[in-house]
Amino acid sequence: MTDLAGRIAVITGAADGIGKALAGAFATAGARLVLADVDGPRVEAVGRELSASGAEVMTASTDVSDREQVLELRHAALARFGTVHVLCNNAGVMGPAGDPLWELPIDEWQRVMAVNLWGVLHGIQAFLPVILAAGEAGHVVNTASMQGVTSGTLIPEYTVSKHAVVALSESLRAQLTARGAPVGVTVLCPGAVSTELASREHDRLAQVGDGRPWAVAPGAGGRQARWGPGLTPEEVAAAAVAAVERDRFYVFTNPGSRARVEARLGPILDALDEGPASGAPHQKRL
Ligand SMILES: NC(=O)c1ccc[n+]([C@@H]2O[C@H](COP(=O)([O-])OP(=O)(O)OC[C@H]3O[C@@H](n4cnc5c(N)ncnc54)[C@H](O)[C@@H]3O)[C@@H](O)[C@H]2O)c1
Repeated sequence: MTDLAGRIAVITGAADGIGKALAGAFATAGARLVLADVDGPRVEAVGRELSASGAEVMTASTDVSDREQVLELRHAALARFGTVHVLCNNAGVMGPAGDPLWELPIDEWQRVMAVNLWGVLHGIQAFLPVILAAGEAGHVVNTASMQGVTSGTLIPEYTVSKHAVVALSESLRAQLTARGAPVGVTVLCPGAVSTELASREHDRLAQVGDGRPWAVAPGAGGRQARWGPGLTPEEVAAAAVAAVERDRFYVFTNPGSRARVEARLGPILDALDEGPASGAPHQKRL
């Protein structure tokens, strides 16, 4: 989709951070906006700000983990604009440190999966039929993370959810390509970005109480110490808009991403080369 002018873009998690920056970047590119967030008043304020600078915007209070609310968002978007061309499934939550993961309560796992994975699927199932029915160029941007292609000791529930978003995006792209559909897909994989994602989780966990080792979330400073200084949300949003305009699939935004991906894939490729532990190399078994 080389020209976003006049196109309708739905962005979830648009009240703050990367989603708010996406809203600004799509507005600058001339898109008309449907901004949704579980924080209704805050997303309304973002909408007012962008309207004041000339963008055509509607906002909605939507919890993406609730399928019915996402269907209501579709209804509202169609009532206002008649169609949709771009969907940015961006809303996400971080979750506790989750170490050890075998003690992390199931409802904590479910909360992260409900927003980060089901929220993306709800968005795709609600809006992709509309985008396809329009018969015009369209695009889906799913915000995953470097945690979608790497892993480690911290925040396993977040890592699992983001790996799922990468796999979901790969399947989606394959199915759209197989159908010759004019709809591109981007899976956005930022590293550390300077947003309130971690502090939001800190605030939530402060209410959960002490004595739960799995609950100690890494702070923003901790993330930066591990993964280097964060990019600004605006830098990530600019990369996402460029990916839509140039139809790029994987988008990595942070320096050092290659080394982190190689650190995960290296042992996988080595194990493939070694073949099965017992018996002949697997190439000969096929
Ligand atoms: N900040 C980072 O370092 C980083 C890195 C990689 C990926 N990401 C991903 O980027 C996306 C945006 O995160 P951010 O860093 O801008 O965080 P953020 O907390 O600043 O913004 C997230 C927004 O999503 C909203 N939200 C949360 N739950 C929701 C729900 N159930 N329904 C609708 N909206 C909901 C929040 O209210 C908030 O406005 C997330 O998917 C996150 O996992 C962030």
